[in-house]
Amino acid sequence: MRVLVTGGSGFVGRTVVAGLRAQGFGVRILARGTRELVEGVETVRGSVVDGQGLEAACRGCDAVIHLVGIIAEVGAQTYRRVHSEGTQNLLAAARVAGIRRWVQMSALGARAGAAAEYHRTKWEAEEMVRASGLEWTIHRPSIVFGPGDGFVGFFARMSRWSPVLPLIGGGGMQFQPIAVEDVATCFVGALGRTSTVGKTYDLCGRERFTLRDIFRQVLEVTGRRRLLLPVPWVVAGVQARMAEILFAKMLGRTPPLNRDQLLMLREDNVGDPGPMIRDYGLEPADFRAGLRRACLKPES
Ligand SMILES: NC(=O)c1ccc[n+]([C@@H]2O[C@H](COP(=O)([O-])OP(=O)(O)OC[C@H]3O[C@@H](n4cnc5c(N)ncnc54)[C@H](OP(=O)(O)O)[C@@H]3O)[C@@H](O)[C@H]2O)c1
Repeated sequence: MRVLVTGGSGFVGRTVVAGLRAQGFGVRILARGTRELVEGVETVRGSVVDGQGLEAACRGCDAVIHLVGIIAEVGAQTYRRVHSEGTQNLLAAARVAGIRRWVQMSALGARAGAAAEYHRTKWEAEEMVRASGLEWTIHRPSIVFGPGDGFVGFFARMSRWSPVLPLIGGGGMQFQPIAVEDVATCFVGALGRTSTVGKTYDLCGRERFTLRDIFRQVLEVTGRRRLLLPVPWVVAGVQARMAEILFAKMLGRTPPLNRDQLLMLREDNVGDPGPMIRDYGLEPADFRAGLRRACLKPES
């Protein structure tokens, strides 16, 4: 089976691609090419936003693993264009290529009427996939941890140079982190399991942690002592606005924080791992052990 992995050069994508290759799948990646390509894997350069390269990417493939997503808006890369319109564009190209199997990356919290545009547009993409007539499976992870990740790893890297870690809104919101290897196991595993067709899964660990718990564990694992500083929502809002202007507008880069992410942080990011554990035969990795591996990598 030949699989198109969109976003295969990203943090999650690289582990999914490695998992597919280890299982003997043929793999092709679609990405714009803004980051290092994956050695030894055919890559089609294109964008789900303008539709360029999508038909070429789908041609000759049997399945799509659609991972493309953004955590912050920069220029033409808006949540709506990338998540909703991007999924629509790719579905159209998959239909032309006669592809029948589709595994979609969504996120916990995706729902109609959500406060955050990220969640609303992830939901719109889910609805398009559900209405596509394809054999689909949808995965909704909590925060994904692993070497080089953009959340736990971001704060671990920050703790190298910053004397404080910011407890946004007091840091009481809950997460149910999942290891990137477990996420990849589900995406690869879905392809061989017809029982997962037509189902939407939460991908999350067994345990729930507050932001404060996560910071404490990062500091324990790295052996650092830092002040955990509560940052009121209003202050975080000003910082997020400034980061959007400086990074996204002036530098054309992804800001470290934006106002949509603050809306998401106002909610717990938790789910039910039961169906994932049952259908994929997976025991999710322990967060503390995984954190040790992620934090002890040189980039952390
Ligand atoms: N990481 C998490 O904790 C987490 C949690 C829940 C859900 N998710 C979802 O998981 C997915 C992957 O996340 P990630 O952390 O691996 O992200 P990432 O590291 O930023 O990777 C994103 C990938 O998408 C590609 N891409 C971006 N815009 C594109 C476009 N317009 N057309 C084609 N390719 C494009 C990027 O390559 P180029 O830049 O070269 O195009 C890259 O390969 C996303 O959908 C995200 O919303 C992640």
